[in-house]
Amino acid sequence: MLLRLDKYLADMGMGTRSQIKEKIRKGKVAVNGEPTWAPELKVDPSRDTVELEGRPVGYAELEYYMLNKPAGVITATEDKRQKTVLDLMEGRKRRDLFPVGRLDVDTEGLLLITNDGELAHQLLSPKKHVDKVYYVKLDREIPREAADTFAAGMTLGDGTKLQPALLCLESTVSARLTIREGKFHQVKRMFQAVGCRVIYLKRLSMGPLALDETLAPGACRPLTEEEIRQLKESVSLKAGQ
Ligand code: URA
Repeated sequence: MLLRLDKYLADMGMGTRSQIKEKIRKGKVAVNGEPTWAPELKVDPSRDTVELEGRPVGYAELEYYMLNKPAGVITATEDKRQKTVLDLMEGRKRRDLFPVGRLDVDTEGLLLITNDGELAHQLLSPKKHVDKVYYVKLDREIPREAADTFAAGMTLGDGTKLQPALLCLESTVSARLTIREGKFHQVKRMFQAVGCRVIYLKRLSMGPLALDETLAPGACRPLTEEEIRQLKESVSLKAGQ
């Protein structure tokens, strides 16, 4: 894989593309020990060594984090007005991370953040049937027929057809719901269709990846090697792929 020098340094969180171009033009960057003034120079992260102001900058290819998303932040990489999930990860400096899938602003819980486009694509593919488990609280009693309605695969008011989903009641007004898709406001619209309003929603897991309950809302941690392996295996990607 060949990368432009300015992108390489931006991916590693060394500044914005324009700040980096400026540094390169000022001769602060060397490739394989030779100073360069060309931001467009192509480098091979597996062979070339890049130094910024005399310090080597390695290229970590793929990174994986789980975030316990709190309510009140949007699932986006950047936004002029609202705080985003990536703003919560300031300590993680690289700039090519993105959230896998989307949680509503008022939804909490598990969000996978990575720069592995292939894994993200596979996890979001409807064909891969990756289960997502949500904990949900409702504004009124869940009707008796809800579990059967969800299990049969329902059609929402706008004609959206849904795959079967599994509802397990935890009380008369709270439940765990397992869905395989990630349609817009899916959980809220499913409950709306059976006459309830969701007043609290938290994602607990995505495929084999479960939210680490020791993570406070707003906190994140890197995935373990085992978690990465299991996630890849769940969508039939081999480790290292
Ligand atoms: N379903 C919803 O309605 N909202 C979410 O954030 C996730 C699933």
